[in-house]
Amino acid sequence: MKLFSAHIEDLRTLYISNLKKALDMEQKIAAALPDLIENSTDPELSDAFSVHLDETQGHVSTVESILRSHIGEAATETCKVINGLTAEASDAIKDATDPSVRDIALIGAAQQVEHHEIAVYGTLRRWAEILGLDEDAALLESIEAEEENADAVLTEIADRVNLEAPVQQ
Ligand SMILES: [Fe+2]
Ligand SMILES: [Fe+2]
Repeated sequence: MKLFSAHIEDLRTLYISNLKKALDMEQKIAAALPDLIENSTDPELSDAFSVHLDETQGHVSTVESILRSHIGEAATETCKVINGLTAEASDAIKDATDPSVRDIALIGAAQQVEHHEIAVYGTLRRWAEILGLDEDAALLESIEAEEENADAVLTEIADRVNLEAPVQQ
């Protein structure tokens, strides 16, 4: 709950506000991914996290450049959702003591992040289209495609890694 209203009265203001939240989200994901890389045991999984860290740094730059083109600065607003999702990922690292269970937990936490990002970029892209911002829409669509690909890669790894984990003690 917030104390004061941000007085968002039009779609463009809402769009800029959500771009700022997307930037905060991407910066926090970029800060969280090294921990996931370090704590994953499966080499394919740590590679997938490394590749997506590079992509995520690209997302930070792209969202920054979109924001600069509109308001002259790459400002952020707090994305409340990503704080919870990254907390889940660090809990997974702490709580899972078996390496393959930890890998599974990390995949689960990371897929929740990807699904959130897919929702965020799907929404922003649609708003950009409505606002006639075709260049923005194309950039946002390309980020969305990388999030979808990251999610698909994680699903593929999960299909194998899930079967390697102990089911019960
Ligand atoms: Fe991203
Ligand atoms: Fe992502």
